[in-house]
Amino acid sequence: MRRQSALAAAVTIFCSGCGQADGAALAARVEIRGDAIPTSLTGEAGRVADGQAEFVSREGGHCVLCHRIEGLQAEFQGNVGPDLTGVGARLTEGQIRLRIVDAQRIWPDTVMPSYYRTGGLRQVGREYEGQPALTARQIEDLVAYLSSQGN
Ligand code: HEC
Repeated sequence: MRRQSALAAAVTIFCSGCGQADGAALAARVEIRGDAIPTSLTGEAGRVADGQAEFVSREGGHCVLCHRIEGLQAEFQGNVGPDLTGVGARLTEGQIRLRIVDAQRIWPDTVMPSYYRTGGLRQVGREYEGQPALTARQIEDLVAYLSSQGN
C-alpha cells in the first residue's frame, strides 16, 4: 500500500501557485497527471451545447480565431492552430482539459493562451490580470464539447 502511494505521488503534481516564481499560477488547485488533468474543475460534467457556443463566441473562448472544426456553423474559423475535427477521438478528456487550462505547460512557446492561469500570461489585456481568461465552468463546457467530437 505504501509503495503504491509513493508511486502515485511521483506522477501527480498538485499545481497550486505552481511556477509562482515566474508568475505562472493557476486559478485554483488542480491535479495534473502526466499531460492531463483527469478530474473536472467544477466537479461536474460540462454541457456540450454551451461548450460549442463558447468555442465560437468572441466573449467566450473565441477558439475559432485559431481552430476549425468541420461542420461547425461559424462566420470565421482560423488555421493558426491544429484542425480540431474529431479531437475527442485523439485526446482524452483530461488531455483536452490541460491543453485549455495551460497550453504553455505543454508547448512553452505556443501562441495558444493558457486560459486558467492568473499569472505569467501572454497576450492578455490588463483587465484580465489576476483572473483566469475563462471560468472553470466555461472550461468544462469546452471540454465536454471537444470530447464529443469524433465520438
Ligand atoms: C491564438 C491562437 C489560439 C487560440 C485562440 C486557441 N488555440 Fe488551441 N492551439 C493553438 C495552437 C498553435 C495549438 C498547437 C500547439 C502548438 O504547437 O503551439 C493549439 C492546440 C490546441 C489543442 C490540442 C490539439 C491537438 O490536436 O493536440 C486543443 C485541444 C486546443 N488547442 C483547444 C483550444 C480551445 C478550446 C481554445 C479556446 C478556448 C483554443 N484552443 C484557443 C492556438 C490557439
